[in-house]
Amino acid sequence: MYSKKNKKKLSSEEKKILEEIIRVDHAGEHGATQIYRGQMAVFKKNSAIWKKILEMAEQEEVHKSTFDELIVDMEVRPTSLFPLWNKAGYLLGLGTALLGEKAAMACTVAVEEVIGRHYEEQVEILTKNKINPKLLKTVKQFREDELEHHDTGVNHEAEMTPGFVFLSKAIKQACYLAIKVTKKY
Ligand SMILES: [Fe+2]
Ligand SMILES: [Fe+2]
Repeated sequence: MYSKKNKKKLSSEEKKILEEIIRVDHAGEHGATQIYRGQMAVFKKNSAIWKKILEMAEQEEVHKSTFDELIVDMEVRPTSLFPLWNKAGYLLGLGTALLGEKAAMACTVAVEEVIGRHYEEQVEILTKNKINPKLLKTVKQFREDELEHHDTGVNHEAEMTPGFVFLSKAIKQACYLAIKVTKKY
């Protein structure tokens, strides 16, 4: 349990910070599992790429469950855009996988670059405000996992995808926008 003890002590500003963090990460981790679900639907079951994606997907399941728990414990309202991000995530996974293995990995590289930075920002905020040390530890751990996913993508020649720069830029911008909107809505 994350915060039952100190929940009452939080100022409204601190509460707002925590709520935004949990709301956006909850949606993001669900989105991540959907991306991989979409990709795994395209690739042949038990192929090398499928297995590699499964490894990452399994970590995303852990992230997802953690934020499922947090959103209940901390009584945070989930984003109203939740169904949209789930569908968008699935389609992004499906679409990139249909473009090929490298494009699927390019999707991971782009998404994880944004998420790595996003978690880094949260580490800074939580460190500075000393609101919830356990959440800080969780965010740090997840950031490490996401950066590993990023490197897995790079090692699978993501950057050799035709049109990588364009594809990556489009995905990153969509992720930044999704994060921005989800914090509030
Ligand atoms: Fe994740
Ligand atoms: Fe990830």
